[in-house]
Amino acid sequence: MEAIILVGGLGTRLRPLTHTIPKPLLPLANVPMVERMVKKLPEIFDTAILAVNYGLNEMETYFYERDIGKRIIIVPEDEPLGTGGAMRNCFDYITGTTAVFNGDIVSSINLENMLKQHVKTGAKGTLALWEVDDPSRFGVVEFKNGQITQFQEKPEKGTELSNLINAGTYLLEPEILEMIPANKKISIEREIYPKVAGDGLYGFPFEGYFIDSGTPESYLAANFKSLGKNGTAAHNGASIRGNALIHESAKLKDCIIGPNAIIGANVEIEKCVIRESVILSNVNGYGSVVEGCIIGPEVSFEKDLRRTLISPKGTIAF
Ligand code: GTP
Repeated sequence: MEAIILVGGLGTRLRPLTHTIPKPLLPLANVPMVERMVKKLPEIFDTAILAVNYGLNEMETYFYERDIGKRIIIVPEDEPLGTGGAMRNCFDYITGTTAVFNGDIVSSINLENMLKQHVKTGAKGTLALWEVDDPSRFGVVEFKNGQITQFQEKPEKGTELSNLINAGTYLLEPEILEMIPANKKISIEREIYPKVAGDGLYGFPFEGYFIDSGTPESYLAANFKSLGKNGTAAHNGASIRGNALIHESAKLKDCIIGPNAIIGANVEIEKCVIRESVILSNVNGYGSVVEGCIIGPEVSFEKDLRRTLISPKGTIAF
């Protein structure tokens, strides 16, 4: 079975960081988010199809140099085709029911249970649904007797059809992918799903967590969620506070790390306090308190920093 992972977006909300690293290759707890997603696929999905536009060269290099335990097919787009167009572009590689993921979602969804429901209901498509308090910034669905009967884009307060939003994870039969015109920029959410609403389009609400890691704040949150309790217990150059992860190649001296701090490969820091932050690879730092920041790769810091993103292509406060 195949899973398509949509990894072609520009990642504008994470600029200037995404000028250096395409969003799917940005690490979550020191592992690129797309690699995490591929590894998390249930065994029955033996092939991951990566739909790529922006960042094609980096993605090809990354996956051709590694074996991550699944067959990887990289399908390039000359122009960004949008979510639907990108899926259609992968059509020649699919053999039946296909899972599709937005590549920047970190969630607790149980794909095996979702697949069981998809088969049992005989759905043409099943969309993972996530409940939010305020759906006014999202695509909302009307959900009746297990089926999605209507879509609503960014509803005004008081007019919401429900509090359930599209969580960017789908199981689709080929007939849905066949509805998408080839070689055209198409949004599956806006142009295809509304046509199938009420006609075999099912919802799969789930609980736990759901993070779209596309903004600086949510990228940090996705890192801390991915870190979980699997951090570094002790380090000879640092005192560890709470959850923290220090790459084995990092060199630390007289530091306090955590809670929620991730230190990447080949980082060298001395006399620093790092909390609620992600330090990407090859960063040097000295004598600073760093809180709520994303720093790297390949930059240096020597002053206190708060809620700042520092990348080789520029610095922003968030
Ligand atoms: P922003 O520019 O910050 O909004 O990020 P983004 O470019 O990733 O867009 P968005 O978060 O809306 O995209 C959702 C998912 O679809 C992400 O996993 C993107 O990589 C993917 N995506 C969006 N547009 C395209 C596209 O034209 N082609 C492909 N292959 N993937 C896309």
